[in-house]
Amino acid sequence: MSRLPRPIKIVPSVLPADFANLGQACRDLADAGVDHIQWDVMDGNFVPNLTFGPDVIAACRRHVDLPFEAHLMVTNPGELAARYVEAGCTRLIVHAEACLHLHSTLGAIRELGATAAVALNPATPASAVENVLDLVDMVLVMTVNPGFGGQAYIATMEPKIARIAEMIGSSGHDVDIEVDGGIGVDTIAGAARAGANVLVAGSALYRDPAGLSHAVAELRSLAEAAR
Ligand code: DX5
Repeated sequence: MSRLPRPIKIVPSVLPADFANLGQACRDLADAGVDHIQWDVMDGNFVPNLTFGPDVIAACRRHVDLPFEAHLMVTNPGELAARYVEAGCTRLIVHAEACLHLHSTLGAIRELGATAAVALNPATPASAVENVLDLVDMVLVMTVNPGFGGQAYIATMEPKIARIAEMIGSSGHDVDIEVDGGIGVDTIAGAARAGANVLVAGSALYRDPAGLSHAVAELRSLAEAAR
């Protein structure tokens, strides 16, 4: 059974934003028409970079009404999950590679009242999510090795995206497929054609000389045209 098409969503990573003015950055992104905001949480251990703690996200929560999702690139997502829900994130994305008991961690996130998503690094096979599709509302396929923005899109992930779309179709569950890493005007169509409907972009939004609104609209139309 094939997966029913799900709405295209353009989601910014705030990694390239001005860290000295994140409240304004969130307002600018909301004005630019993004669907929700992704916070790339990095602990310096799971990935070689360090970014946002829950208090930073909590400080930005009052600036916009947009949903916040936390992409937890941390070694202990289960222990930190409650802090990010309290900070105002309604979706938590945990890495399969960071969870000794992924099934239990995803269930615990739902117990906190948030929706759960699972992320796969490039080397992790699609089969890693086969037994948890009933616990997630989204699967994130990384198209870069996590840790930094501005990296090149790994196109060899497209067959994995397509495989996950097939698995979701057969499961009967409504699950989004998010792609994160190197998404821009030259790569978004391939990701959408493969089955992604939630596209995360950082550099591509902030480097557009015509501004954020133009970048969001252009990416959205390219993704919709590709399906
Ligand atoms: C990697 C980060 C980046 C970021 C998007 O850990 O998750 O993928 O969100 O960065 P760009 O869009 O610049 O590749």
